[in-house]
Amino acid sequence: MKFIFFIILSISLTGNSSAHNHFPITIDSELMINRGKIAYENNCVSCHMVNLAGAENWKGVDEDGHQKAPPLNGTGHTWHHDDKTLHNIIKYGLVKLVEGYEGKMMGYEDNLSDQDIDSVLAYIKSYWPKDKYEHQIGISK
Ligand code: HEC
Repeated sequence: MKFIFFIILSISLTGNSSAHNHFPITIDSELMINRGKIAYENNCVSCHMVNLAGAENWKGVDEDGHQKAPPLNGTGHTWHHDDKTLHNIIKYGLVKLVEGYEGKMMGYEDNLSDQDIDSVLAYIKSYWPKDKYEHQIGISK
């Protein structure tokens, strides 16, 4: 299951966001980071936890056999994915993007605007070590 999850994410999730193309998302705007922090605290913290640390033993599965919430703080694999992929995961949820995938994270298209989603990504990136941040900016251009 983990293997499938990884392959799926390795295929860039294209489409659906052509109207929206100002990637890469940087950490240059403090306003954007603060806005993202609020959206994160309102929508994401219950699963991805404070300091974006993810669920305990996140590499295992939960009692229902579902993937647990991974850390978003640079210790997991979030920085392996480009901005378009991350934006789409947050907007639509993997469940909607990947046929047959079962998981607990729903998409936020009804609750967060594209700008909100980008702000959350700026906030998430503000946690990443410099080398991971720069690598991810490189693949998001
Ligand atoms: C109900 C729990 C839950 C909530 C709430 C939630 N997530 Fe997730 N998130 C997950 C799980 C579980 C995964 C693993 C993929 C899957 O199963 O869908 C995930 C995966 C991700 C990923 C991919 C990370 C990676 O390293 O590949 C990102 C990015 C993400 N979530 C961001 C967010 C953001 C931003 C919010 C709030 C707007 C949020 N999540 C809310 C549970 C949650």
